[in-house]
Amino acid sequence: MVEILPSILAADFARLGEQVAQLEAAGARMLHVDIMDGHFVPNLTLGPPVVESLRKATRLILDVHLMIEDPDFFAPIFIQAGANHVLVHQEACRNLDRTLHMIRDHGAKAGVVINPATPVAMLVDVLDIVDSVLVMSVNPGFGGQSFIPNSLKKVRELAQRRRERRLHFAIEIDGGIILENVADAIHAGVDWVVAGTSIFHTVNPGTAFEQMRHAALDASRVAV
Ligand code: DX5
Ligand code: ZN
Repeated sequence: MVEILPSILAADFARLGEQVAQLEAAGARMLHVDIMDGHFVPNLTLGPPVVESLRKATRLILDVHLMIEDPDFFAPIFIQAGANHVLVHQEACRNLDRTLHMIRDHGAKAGVVINPATPVAMLVDVLDIVDSVLVMSVNPGFGGQSFIPNSLKKVRELAQRRRERRLHFAIEIDGGIILENVADAIHAGVDWVVAGTSIFHTVNPGTAFEQMRHAALDASRVAV
């Protein structure tokens, strides 16, 4: 099922609850929450208390993207704070299989993320134990960057492996998604589309969400 996940990195943090309620009213089912530690990526965002506050403010599924150096230590803390999905970077995990199992054992859905320079081949031995695979379509760390087209090749490869092995993980894309390229992502095989700037840096985030959702749903009905 195609879903648009607003990325709150681009939200107005002073009005976060209000903006989340607006997106919920517009039909959003999931929110994407970017956690950055200033080490794995050159930026800092937010920590467990904000996830805890979001959990109290909304029933939306919280898709928590850990761009941090110690996901093993922090994953249980974010799950405790209310994360439904925890996504860890392949590049940050020394024992990826163990980390993914640990996330599931703590009661959350486990996702794995690959950076633009990481090939899909690095994931072949964990595809059967993940609930989602997120393909970064920008280098992680900042919102508002330009989409890297090579990411669609990786989405197609993942979709093909999923078909061949009869697996059911969701394919997610994150970075540089705008109204003009969302259809390409869906045609390549993306299920979940993360969008920050193109939703929040608009006059009305609810309307921007609805437009993006319509474009994605239309694209999912067109056979390619
Ligand atoms: C980037 C983050 C993204 C970011 C996307 O490191 O993982 O989730 O919010 O922002 P846009 O949609 O503006 O590229
Ligand atoms: Zn993200």
